Amino acid sequence: MKILIIGSGGREHAIARKILNSPKVTEVYCAKGNPGMLSDGIQVVNIAEDDHEGLISYVKEKNIAWTFVGPEIPLLNGIVDDFQAAGLKIFGPNKAAAMIEGSKEFAKKIMVDNAIPTADYEAFTNYEAACAYVKEKGAPIVIKADGLAAGKGVTVAMTLEEALQALKEMMTDHRFGKSGDKVVVEEFLEGQEFSLLAFVRNENVYPMVIAQDHKRAFDEDKGPNTGGMGAYSPVPQIPEEMVDAAVERILKPAASGMMKNDTPFTGILYAGLIATNTGPKVIEFNARFGDPETQVVLPRLTSDLAEIIDDLLNNKEPELTWSNQASVGVVLAAEGYPNDYKKGMSVPEFNDQVTVYFAGVTDDQGTIRASGGRVLLVEAESDSIESAQAKVYEALEEVNTTDYFYRKDIGAKSIK
Ligand code: AMP
Ligand code: GLY
Repeated sequence: MKILIIGSGGREHAIARKILNSPKVTEVYCAKGNPGMLSDGIQVVNIAEDDHEGLISYVKEKNIAWTFVGPEIPLLNGIVDDFQAAGLKIFGPNKAAAMIEGSKEFAKKIMVDNAIPTADYEAFTNYEAACAYVKEKGAPIVIKADGLAAGKGVTVAMTLEEALQALKEMMTDHRFGKSGDKVVVEEFLEGQEFSLLAFVRNENVYPMVIAQDHKRAFDEDKGPNTGGMGAYSPVPQIPEEMVDAAVERILKPAASGMMKNDTPFTGILYAGLIATNTGPKVIEFNARFGDPETQVVLPRLTSDLAEIIDDLLNNKEPELTWSNQASVGVVLAAEGYPNDYKKGMSVPEFNDQVTVYFAGVTDDQGTIRASGGRVLLVEAESDSIESAQAKVYEALEEVNTTDYFYRKDIGAKSIK
């Protein structure tokens, strides 16, 4: 089989590499991909994610068996609908189902209708009404832009002033454009976060092993929210029963709730959860693999990812098996990220104890240079989180990371 992956980040690098491992797969193309993928034998295709016509023609011309969609934006732009209308196989939710990520209010409605545990909330389009509600509830409280804001449209306000400031920035200063015209004000949930992803086909849910992301830019969860600065899997401090409860009370009702809502979901369903004293509660759903969770979850998959997706596309039962190894992944980011950041640095060469997943890189006459905020992720597996972590940090410490930064505490919450 020849396979096409849509997307260009570290997540897509991990997906492409895993799919290329399959004995059933001869070629993996990635549109647009990035030049860091080439040395793994992944082919990059210079067609934009939003050029559905161009991608469809390419798939037909190359006789590609199916397409896998990495990021949320093409899903919300209806790439799955367009491919299916052209008679092509593609794995991911259609536009209507991707709204579980595209609109916080839609996601909340699915949760409320199906008794899925989540934070209490209220949605507002009127600024004064939102302010009045926040004053009534008090801090801590969470303010979220309703639409997509690249992981940055959330303020966890520890004081009333912070909450009111966030409402002003979103609703009257339009800091996130249209995404902030509607805001969701949410109860603050206390507990550790974990990410539970599953392959989903209609009401059928096939969970993956869990991971923990690190969303804040700096050590000890300080600094601004980012797309994710590192992750690890497993997450031993989250008990097995918590994960089982999340599958039964969250993922399965979400999948069947999407069926009842006439928006059946097929693709990767990602639940961002908080392990509270009263069990797991949802902070968000995504309609895709997480970045950087994918880079630590897929290395632990011992069955064939291409076969899993092929089975799901052909109404067969997929086989999922996992290794007991621990995986730790640390993002190397450009100085300044998530705000304005440095570009053009050369990319370090790492030792062979680690795997590198490239994201924000460009080709400069044969040299790979940094071009994005999250430049790459360094990942290692080992018998324990401590030893996987040691491999990653050793590899990072022995190279020159001037004009870059990375968190030094990825995985630390699991090590007591
Ligand atoms: P989100 O984009 O919804 O995942 O939110 C970004 C981050 O804000 C999450 O990873 C959490 O750390 C935090 N967060 C979101 N919602 C809540 C909540 N209701 N209570 C506590 N923290 C939250
Ligand atoms: N790691 C968070 C996300 O992919 O949304």
